[in-house]
Amino acid sequence: MNRVVFNQKGGVGKTSITCNLAAIGASQGLRTLVIDLDVQGNSTHYLVGEVDAEQYPAEAQGVSGLFKQTVGPRKMRQNPDAFVWETPFENLFLLPSSPYLREIEKELEARYKIYKLRDALEKLAGEYDRIYIDTPPSFNFYSKSALIAADRVLIPFDCDSFARQSLYELMVNIEELQEDHNPELQVEGIVINQFNSQARLPGELVADLADEGFPVIDRFLNSSVKMRESHHEMRPLIHLAPRHKLTQAYIALHNHLERRPRKQRGR
Ligand SMILES: Nc1ncnc2c1ncn2[C@@H]1O[C@H](COP(=O)(O)OP(=O)(O)O)[C@@H](O)[C@H]1O
Ligand SMILES: [Mg+2]
Repeated sequence: MNRVVFNQKGGVGKTSITCNLAAIGASQGLRTLVIDLDVQGNSTHYLVGEVDAEQYPAEAQGVSGLFKQTVGPRKMRQNPDAFVWETPFENLFLLPSSPYLREIEKELEARYKIYKLRDALEKLAGEYDRIYIDTPPSFNFYSKSALIAADRVLIPFDCDSFARQSLYELMVNIEELQEDHNPELQVEGIVINQFNSQARLPGELVADLADEGFPVIDRFLNSSVKMRESHHEMRPLIHLAPRHKLTQAYIALHNHLERRPRKQRGR
């Protein structure tokens, strides 16, 4: 099963949610792959730390290596698994980002390589129980590739009113993409992140979204400095602080998503 975590707004929790859900699944025994499609490489840094640029030339690295070979001769192509790295965490693997993604984006777009990630994921499907895709904060070639390749999309929402405005636009973009490219894509729901139950506004915002028919997932993630610490330490919460309140909220979200039967497509 492939899950993409997407919202074109930055700082809403895409990277945190991708890596922490993936790490929880992996810790429960699911062989899990994280694909980092954001040129900023935050998931890559979170899971494996600083990448040695000399050892791994940017154009041959992870996702950019995978995409780059799609414009080369067919017989030179390697299996997508050749670009996957191990992480320090059992059962957790990474297809890392690289700065080179920015350089090749226009060429990939001009040559209609938008379905290549889907092809690669089909080849990887037998190798992994779960694939999580982290996306850049824009509706660009890479996030579209991910939405075309995935079965499910999770949408992080960080409880501010600007985020709400961009949610309308986002839902329209996703509906259009479903219609044009991937009718199988299921909107799994909106993940409420950095929820503060003490303040009035977040509760109202979330209630309004649910009233408007948005598929708000009923397992909220609270705000905690532990998340920053976890990024800084390069250890997902399940490894850094398994009993912490935010970790428990993540486990509840993870298990809720895993238990839910496949629902009807759309809102
Ligand atoms: N539940 C949370 N509580 C506190 N800080 C959080 C939480 N989730 C994310 N953050 C912080 O917010 C910032 C943006 O999160 P990130 O996952 O990188 O978002 P995105 O990938 O959407 O840009 C990071 O500094 C991260 O540590
Ligand atoms: Mg990110």
